[in-house]
Amino acid sequence: MAADIMDDAHKTITTPKSAKTPKTATASIRLRPLQPEDLPALMDLYDQAYAEHPEYGESSRQKTRRYLKWLMRHHTFFQVAEAEGRPVGFIVVDADWRDWNGQPVGEIHELAVHPDYWGKSVATRLLQAGLEHIRARGRGLAGLWVGEHNDRAIAFYQRHGFRPVRWGYWVRMVKRL
Ligand SMILES: CC(C)(COP(=O)(O)OP(=O)(O)OC[C@H]1O[C@@H](n2cnc3c(N)ncnc32)[C@H](O)[C@@H]1OP(=O)(O)O)[C@@H](O)C(=O)NCCC(=O)NCCS
Repeated sequence: MAADIMDDAHKTITTPKSAKTPKTATASIRLRPLQPEDLPALMDLYDQAYAEHPEYGESSRQKTRRYLKWLMRHHTFFQVAEAEGRPVGFIVVDADWRDWNGQPVGEIHELAVHPDYWGKSVATRLLQAGLEHIRARGRGLAGLWVGEHNDRAIAFYQRHGFRPVRWGYWVRMVKRL
């Protein structure tokens, strides 16, 4: 999911995945709120998370920066997963969002994990925290947009109870809470 709802552009990110796969245990990953100084690390993380699907990410560092800054201003919940002192994932939620039809929804604007940390339940922990926040705000619905060919992310959300309700270049997925 990305900002081309705000900015449709050709995507040319070619940031390579790191060859290293740290043997970090899930337990050593902690969640904490966003800090202003996270911006450069989150930009790197975001570009690497979308390296497999650049069409759903941002097409330049400038656009990544602009998107991250937009997220930093438009959220009710922004949590960073940290391992060995550096960000390895993050989730951005706005519990006061309105769906395209005006329905109140807890919107998951972004969820990204560095590829070195995929398959270690980092996204699961971030998503659970985000859904708890949405529930605590009294919302009965969570929603998000995901790229139609982003199979890994779609499967991830389906396993967590999200169902597609609109198809297209961006797929709308929702979960009743
Ligand atoms: C989609 C995304 C967020 C998932 O992140 P993740 O941290 O890998 O997700 P999780 O580890 O919580 O769950 C993924 C899988 O790993 C499995 N898993 C979790 N812990 C595991 C472990 N210790 N060992 C092996 N597998 C594990 C999960 O059961 C899940 O099952 P699967 O193998 O059948 O897929 C991540 O791939 C990503 O950042 N993608 C790019 C950005 C993106 O597309 N974001 C979503 C846009 S809407």
